[in-house]
Amino acid sequence: MALNGSSTAAPLEFSGVTKQYPHAETAAIDNLSFTVPAGEVCVLVGPSGCGKTTAMRLVNRMIDLTSGDILIDNATIKGRSTTELRRDIGYVIQHVGLFPHLNILKNISVVPKLLGWDRKRMNDRAHELLDLIGLPQEMGTRYPSQLSGGQRQRVGVARALAADPPLMLMDEPFGAIDPINRDRLQNEFLRLQREIRKTVVFVTHDIDEAIKMGDRIAILREGGHLVQYDAPANILADPADDFVAQFVGADRGLKRLALTRLDEIELEDVSAARHVESDTVSHQATLRDALSAMMSDSLRPLLVVDPDGTAVGSVSIELINRSLRRGGTDAEPTASTT
Ligand SMILES: Nc1ncnc2c1ncn2[C@@H]1O[C@H](COP(=O)(O)OP(=O)(O)O)[C@@H](O)[C@H]1O
Ligand SMILES: [Mg+2]
Repeated sequence: MALNGSSTAAPLEFSGVTKQYPHAETAAIDNLSFTVPAGEVCVLVGPSGCGKTTAMRLVNRMIDLTSGDILIDNATIKGRSTTELRRDIGYVIQHVGLFPHLNILKNISVVPKLLGWDRKRMNDRAHELLDLIGLPQEMGTRYPSQLSGGQRQRVGVARALAADPPLMLMDEPFGAIDPINRDRLQNEFLRLQREIRKTVVFVTHDIDEAIKMGDRIAILREGGHLVQYDAPANILADPADDFVAQFVGADRGLKRLALTRLDEIELEDVSAARHVESDTVSHQATLRDALSAMMSDSLRPLLVVDPDGTAVGSVSIELINRSLRRGGTDAEPTASTT
């Protein structure tokens, strides 16, 4: 894809950020610090009102910092002109706010137009983005009201990407979409991100979405307090406190299993499963899928097969149990083994 070579990403740093809204009793965000490396997806997750949206709006200066600093590509956002700053930041929100009187191509081209791109460049870019988000080219001439909610949300992502910004802010971008389409949009975005490698701050209140989307997860409490900041597997293996443990759920063992695919671990020998006429499971399935398949077959080992159907190893309940124990200090075995 043409876009690959030119694609940029910048690190983002929150440094002692505090936001006190006028007349509010307590700060919406109090001394928040964390860094998102270039090209990674950081998910801010926490209960409603904990300050997630406030944190995002501080980055693109829709609201002003009370104290502390935010750095994009190691440079402070303070004093930067907001127009120029926002060109560097793609912003996607729940209700995308497409312009109803502009067709899809023109909606996608809003920022390039502000930047004074010529017609051909704008058009080429808009068509390229339609491909990138998986919408047919014919849809370019439709109007927003002629698209489904999921399609509009894809256009919102395309619009945010139009000028190839080094940073994307996504505030509950798929929150208003039904579960099936949300799952699809999440998968599409992850596929897209593997190509474009933007720095992304992704906000959600849904821990499962956070686990799925994040390279790292920042768990926030009321007042923008950062409780834990780590890779999803580490947070599930070793929650920092009771709040996090409750937030990630009693089934965190199962959630961890869903993060590991069979082709990522060392499998047991094929012979371990062969003699019991076992069921098979795909190499690309997760440990959770394997456990689920085992549970419908008296927990016998499964034969693991590659896409050609060739057996490449086997997986037993003991192997699943060992994988769980490896990751963290107090990882609990799954309910099925106790
Ligand atoms: N413009 C505002 N003026 C005053 N208080 C606000 C404003 N926006 C948000 N707040 C308050 O700041 C806190 C954090 O809100 P918000 O960042 O929207 O949380 P979240 O996105 O995590 O649900 C809440 O207590 C909210 O009521
Ligand atoms: Mg919010």
